Amino acid sequence: MSLLLAMSGWHIEDWRARFQALLPEMPIVTLGEPFDRRAVHYVASWKHPPGSLTGLPNLAAIFSLGAGVDFLFADDKLPEAPIARVVDPDLTTRMSEYVVLHCLMYLRQQHRYMRQQPAKLWEDDRDQPAARALRVGIMGLGELGLDAARKLKAIGFDVAGWSRSPKSVEGLATFCGEDGMRAFLARTDILVSLLPLTQETRGIINADLLDSLAQDGRLGPFLINAGRGGLQVEADILAALDAGTLKGATLDVFETEPLPSDSPLWSHPLVTVTPHNAAMSEPEAIASLIAQQIRRMEAGEPLQHVVDPARGY
Ligand code: NAP
Ligand code: GLV
Repeated sequence: MSLLLAMSGWHIEDWRARFQALLPEMPIVTLGEPFDRRAVHYVASWKHPPGSLTGLPNLAAIFSLGAGVDFLFADDKLPEAPIARVVDPDLTTRMSEYVVLHCLMYLRQQHRYMRQQPAKLWEDDRDQPAARALRVGIMGLGELGLDAARKLKAIGFDVAGWSRSPKSVEGLATFCGEDGMRAFLARTDILVSLLPLTQETRGIINADLLDSLAQDGRLGPFLINAGRGGLQVEADILAALDAGTLKGATLDVFETEPLPSDSPLWSHPLVTVTPHNAAMSEPEAIASLIAQQIRRMEAGEPLQHVVDPARGY
C-alpha cells in the first residue's frame, strides 16, 4: 500500500521527507518515477497534471494539500474516490493574519504613507477612523472566513458575512444567497473574498458586484481577494479603480498564476499583489493532518473534511 504525491509548483522532496517520517511503513511515490499503480491507496495532490491520476484501481481517498479543491474538479479524468481537503489551524491562522494585516493597512491608510515615504512627504491625515467605523464584509463564512471574522471583530471592525446557506454567528451580521447579496454589499467598506471557486462563484467579483459596494463609508470601498483568481474579473477591477468607485485592491490570487509580467495589476498604484501565499500549506502541519487521516481510514474510522462533488467545495 502506497501514498502517491502528485504536485506542481511545490518542493516535492520536502513533502516526501515529511510524509516518510510520519508514515515510515508506507512507500511514498511520486509521478516522476516508476511505481506500482495497483499499490496506490492514497493520493495527496496539489495541482497534479490533469489526467495523471488515472489507472489507480485500489485508490481509497484523494487528499488536497490545500483548503481549495477546484484544481481537482478541473481534472475531468479524476478517479472516483472520496476527496478530503485541508482544515487545519496552522493554515487558518495564516489566512486570518493576512486578512487582518490588509484590513489594517486600509484602516490605517498605510498604502498612502508608503507612497509618501520615497518623496519624503510628512503629510498626516486627520481623518483617522476607528476600526468600528469600517464595515468589513466577508464573502465565504467557512473555516477561513469565520476565523478571520472573529479576529477582525476582536480588533473592533464592524463585520458581516455572506454565505450560501443561512448562518447565525454571535456578533456578526449575516447574509446569504442571492437575496442577501445586495444588502451585504451595500454595507461593505472592505470586501474580503474567501469563497471557493465553483461553477456558481466563477467571475462573481465583477463590475456589477463592485458597483454595489458602499459608497458612503468613511474610507473605501476596498477589495481583498484571497479566495481564488477565477472569482474575479480583473478588467472590471481595473475599471472600477480607474473610475474611483473602488479605492484599492489587494489580490493574492489571479485569473492566471503566476501573474503575467504584462498584467497592468503589477504597476497599478492602487493594487497590492501578493503571490498566492496568503495561507500556504506548511509541510510539517499539513502532512501531519493527512497522515492522521490515513491512520483513521486504516483503523476503519471515517474520513474527515470530505468535500461534496455536487457543490464543488
Ligand atoms: P469552506 O469552509 O468550504 O467555506 C466556504 C464558504 O463559502 C462557506 O461559507 C460557503 O457557504 C461559502 N460559499 C460557497 N459557495 C457559495 C456561493 N455560491 N454563495 C455564497 N457563499 C458560498 O472553505 P474555506 O476553508 O473557508 O476556504 C475557502 C477558500 O479559500 C478555498 O476554497 C480556497 O479557494 C481559498 N484559499 C486560499 C488560500 C490562499 O493562500 N490564497 C489558502 C487557503 C484557501 P456555506 O457555509 O453556506 O456552505
Ligand atoms: C491555497 O490556495 C489553498 O487552497 O489552500
